[in-house]
Amino acid sequence: MKWTAAKLRALKGEQKISMLTAYDALTASLVDDAGIPAILVGDSLGMTVLGYETTLPVNMDEMLHHTKAVARGTQNAMVIADMPFMSYQPSLSMGLENAGRFLKEAHADAVKIEGGTIRVELIESLVKNGIPVLGHIGLTPQSVKEMGYKVQGKSSEQARQLMDDAMAIEQAGAFAVVLECVPPELGEMISGALSIPTIGIGAGAGCDGQVLVFTDMLGISNKPVPKFVKKYAHLNGIIAEALTAYKSEVEEGTYPGDEHTY
Ligand code: KIV
Repeated sequence: MKWTAAKLRALKGEQKISMLTAYDALTASLVDDAGIPAILVGDSLGMTVLGYETTLPVNMDEMLHHTKAVARGTQNAMVIADMPFMSYQPSLSMGLENAGRFLKEAHADAVKIEGGTIRVELIESLVKNGIPVLGHIGLTPQSVKEMGYKVQGKSSEQARQLMDDAMAIEQAGAFAVVLECVPPELGEMISGALSIPTIGIGAGAGCDGQVLVFTDMLGISNKPVPKFVKKYAHLNGIIAEALTAYKSEVEEGTYPGDEHTY
């Protein structure tokens, strides 16, 4: 079954939603084969696979390239493309045009944009034009220079603002909203107040779903990961062992053996 924005939205209150990032056809097919209903081509790919320090340098060409690959590797999951920094902030028309490219050229099913009340007009315009939108509030990494990487919504004023942002995103027509790095009580409160699903990342168990970065949850990177990440595997050790064994066997002349030779 191909997942759509409407089907994902209908899971609210019925079943918790799992979402993972993927950046290429191979990882997308692994996520898809596991039956995970939504794949986010996050601009986190800037750090996880492109070697940037933040998501800020990621551009449309890079996001389109990776989204195309993910779409090619996916059969059932919904593919959500993250709109990169400055691909939608300068104007509504730029946001509409760039969002349209993800569906038209890269075969994404939806786009994600960061920001709350400030994005209402853009979300309305995208949805009216047939582009499903996933909102993203709380810690928004494209605003790292302004907010840093820290938990959001700790003061009652900030919490109220985040609640207003979430309500505004729902009103504007988004099918779901990512809540990143907020206290669990606030995650639960916002989830209870909305009729669309909340997808938490560092926002506690009260959200309607969870999203994690593929490389973080598989322990592929040896960089430190945030507290909210559960490592379901420690692949970096396994990969390092395999690479070292290959190097030694090539150097010793034990690879290739007879069984690897025509
Ligand atoms: O870029 C990304 O991967 C994200 C998620 C972690 C929510 O925005």
